Amino acid sequence: MAGRLTGRKILITGAASGMGLAIAEKFAAEGAALALLDRNAAGVEAAAGAIGAQGYGCDVTLREAVNEVVTRADEALGGIDGIVNAAGILDIKPFADLDPASWDRMIAVNLTGPYNVVHAALPLMQAAGDATIVNIASTSAIMPLPGTTGYSASKAGLLMFTRCLGMDLGPSIRANVICPGVIQTEMTRYLWENPEHSARAADRVALKRLGTVEDVAQAALFFSTADSAFTTGAMLPVDGGFAWR
Ligand SMILES: NC(=O)c1ccc[n+]([C@@H]2O[C@H](COP(=O)([O-])OP(=O)(O)OC[C@H]3O[C@@H](n4cnc5c(N)ncnc54)[C@H](O)[C@@H]3O)[C@@H](O)[C@H]2O)c1
Repeated sequence: MAGRLTGRKILITGAASGMGLAIAEKFAAEGAALALLDRNAAGVEAAAGAIGAQGYGCDVTLREAVNEVVTRADEALGGIDGIVNAAGILDIKPFADLDPASWDRMIAVNLTGPYNVVHAALPLMQAAGDATIVNIASTSAIMPLPGTTGYSASKAGLLMFTRCLGMDLGPSIRANVICPGVIQTEMTRYLWENPEHSARAADRVALKRLGTVEDVAQAALFFSTADSAFTTGAMLPVDGGFAWR
C-alpha cells in the first residue's frame, strides 16, 4: 500500500536526534525519499542508513555547505518538494549572562539556519510545485519565560519568518510552523531526568504530561500532506495546553 508521502522528496534538518529523527522515521515509513542533514555527521549517517535515506553532516549556519548539501540531495533524490527545519539549540541563562557569542549562535542556528535551507532549496521547491515547508519553533516564540531572551527571540523570528513565507511562496509552496511545548528529547534532558522538575512541568499543562517526539512528528506529517492543503502561514502549538495558561 502506498504511504501518505510516497513520491515526495523531503529534506529534514536536525535529523540525528529528537524530533528531527522521529520525523525522519515517520516520513520514511510513509514512503518519502529523504535527505537528512545534521551537524552530527556520524549520527545523521547512522540515522539515514537505518531508514534508507541520504545523510549529510552539515552545520545549517554555513551557507555554502548548506548549498552544497541541497545540490547533492537534489542529485540523489531527483528534486526536493519538502523541507522540515528541526535543527536547533537552546541556551538558557539570565539576560545579564547572555554573552554575545551565545546570542549570535542561537540566532544563527535557530533563525538564519532555516533561512539558509529554504533559500537554497527554493528553486527546486518552486519547480516541484505543491511543496511544503515545516519549521519547528517553540512555545517560547509566543510566551516569555525566564532566561530565554536569546532562544525566544530566535524562535519568535522563526515563527514570523514562516508566516511571511506562507504569504510570499503561495500558491506553489505552503509554509507552516509548529510550536512544541516541553518535549522529551536530549535538549530537555536536564528537566525531565529530574522527577520533581518533570512533574512540575507536566502539571503546568492542561493534558498533564510532557510531550513526545511522536506528538510533533504527527503534526509535521499533517503539514507535509494534502490533509493541510488549504493551510499556509499557520502556527500550531503542540504543547498539551501550555501556551495559553
Ligand atoms: N525539546 C523541546 O522541548 C523543544 C521545545 C520546543 C522547541 N524545540 C525545538 O525543536 C527542535 C528539535 O529539538 P530537539 O528537542 O529534538 O533537540 P535535539 O537536541 O534532540 O535535536 C536537535 C538536533 O539539531 C542538531 N543541530 C544543532 N545545531 C545544528 C546546526 N548548527 N546544524 C545542523 N544541525 C544542528 C543537533 O545535532 C541535533 O541532532 C529544535 O529546533 C528545538 O529548538 C524543542
